[in-house]
Amino acid sequence: MVLVLALTACTVTQPTETAATDSEDHETADPCADAAILDWDNFGHGFVIEHCNGCHAATARDRHGAPLDHTYDTVEEAWTHADGILALAASDSPSMPPRGGVSDDDRVRLFWWLGCGTTGR
Ligand code: HEC
Repeated sequence: MVLVLALTACTVTQPTETAATDSEDHETADPCADAAILDWDNFGHGFVIEHCNGCHAATARDRHGAPLDHTYDTVEEAWTHADGILALAASDSPSMPPRGGVSDDDRVRLFWWLGCGTTGR
């Protein structure tokens, strides 16, 4: 259920070329309308290092069972798995990281990055 919601939110918000301007009606609430412009360099890299790569780095000493094909060492890898990351880590009841510890603000930022940002950045 959570997964479905997150993926839906994602499809709705796929590449927004220009942010909605204030003069536009917000009848169809765009979750990206007020999004900060976040990317790998100003947010993503630090975020995955702090919260994910203890288990998801290719070099993680103890993956705790994290799938070998889910490594987030590069911006390309992160974007390859963007849908899964959003579904499990940026949804309303996130399951990643398994023990939590990500602030609500950072979960919103994660969505702004992978849900609203420029694909591949
Ligand atoms: C303590 C170790 C640990 C941390 C930290 C962690 N994960 Fe995981 N992750 C796992 C394990 C174990 C699995 C496989 C079991 C599962 O899906 O619950 C997994 C699975 C996943 C999957 C699903 C992979 C698939 O095959 O579909 C995604 C997506 C994911 N993690 C994202 C993240 C993100 C994003 C973060 C950081 C916000 C994170 N994880 C932090 C251990 C971790």
